[in-house]
Amino acid sequence: MTTTGRGVVLGGALAITVVLLAGCQPEDSPSALDPRGPRAERIADLWWLMFWLGTAVFVVVMGFLAYATFRAWRRGVADGEPTDRHANPFLAGAMAVTVLVILVVLGFSLWTSRLLVEPDEPPALTVDVIGNQWWWEVRYPEVDAITANEIHIPVGEPVRVRLLSDDVIHSFWIPELSGKLDLLPGITNEFWIEADEPGTYLGECAEFCGIQHAHMAFLVVAEPRERFDLWLTGQVEPASFVADPLVERGQDIFLTAGCAACHTVRGTAADGEIGPDLTHLASRETIAAGMLENNLGNLMGWIADPQAIKPGNHMPNLPLAPEELEAVVAYLLSLE
Ligand code: CUA
Repeated sequence: MTTTGRGVVLGGALAITVVLLAGCQPEDSPSALDPRGPRAERIADLWWLMFWLGTAVFVVVMGFLAYATFRAWRRGVADGEPTDRHANPFLAGAMAVTVLVILVVLGFSLWTSRLLVEPDEPPALTVDVIGNQWWWEVRYPEVDAITANEIHIPVGEPVRVRLLSDDVIHSFWIPELSGKLDLLPGITNEFWIEADEPGTYLGECAEFCGIQHAHMAFLVVAEPRERFDLWLTGQVEPASFVADPLVERGQDIFLTAGCAACHTVRGTAADGEIGPDLTHLASRETIAAGMLENNLGNLMGWIADPQAIKPGNHMPNLPLAPEELEAVVAYLLSLE
């Protein structure tokens, strides 16, 4: 087989592999090519422009290659025999087109970057997101609300996001709403997100940050303005008090067994700052940074043996008796 022939076969095999792998995306996995907000739409537009330009270049180059191969074969030119480059009238034109294509891509990239700097309207609010191994602290500095692994935003309004890290480098990515931006220790990175429609969008850490990097997800919940305001007002409040013997026993254990050393429950003596703020834990959809649905069974399992579920995370296994565990979980589920 000639060198050219081998190249064509290799190129073809690569193209087929890419097409087959494209089918590997799980059904429920969010895609940057399915944008649900203006920021992601602009990035997707750039992607499609590059895709179609790349496809056109590939087809044209393969066409010329096939033509040249056919012509050489017809003339019986030996493999590897040098040809007279100056005699090729296409060469200058091909170089000009190549430069033009690169300039078009560069121009669109710069233009898209420019569009992404600021939203069309000024951001409606600011959210601070602090990366931790392996969970996300979420703060609303304008009203002093703190939550974790769940960012609520009003639909159709741009939201400024400020990103910081408490330990190593993480990367903030909501495929359907935004591109990626790193969270760096000591440096605040800023961008904005916006959702066109109400819904829950999956976010993920996109920078390897230790063994539980793959278990560092979060949810973005986009709601109509009134529902968002209601949610935020609720988050500002201190923890609700439920007069129930089991819940009260759970709170006692929470405050004395070690939980309070790492977790804050506003309105109580628990003011630890190592783990997530649990003041309104029961209002969240997931626990352990998107790993588990937030329900009684999963809370029990998580507190009984967090190291078995997410090895290496900073939450220790506490020696709680089954009835103590039950009381603590009853308390946590009362924190709405
Ligand atoms: Cu945080 Cu990967």
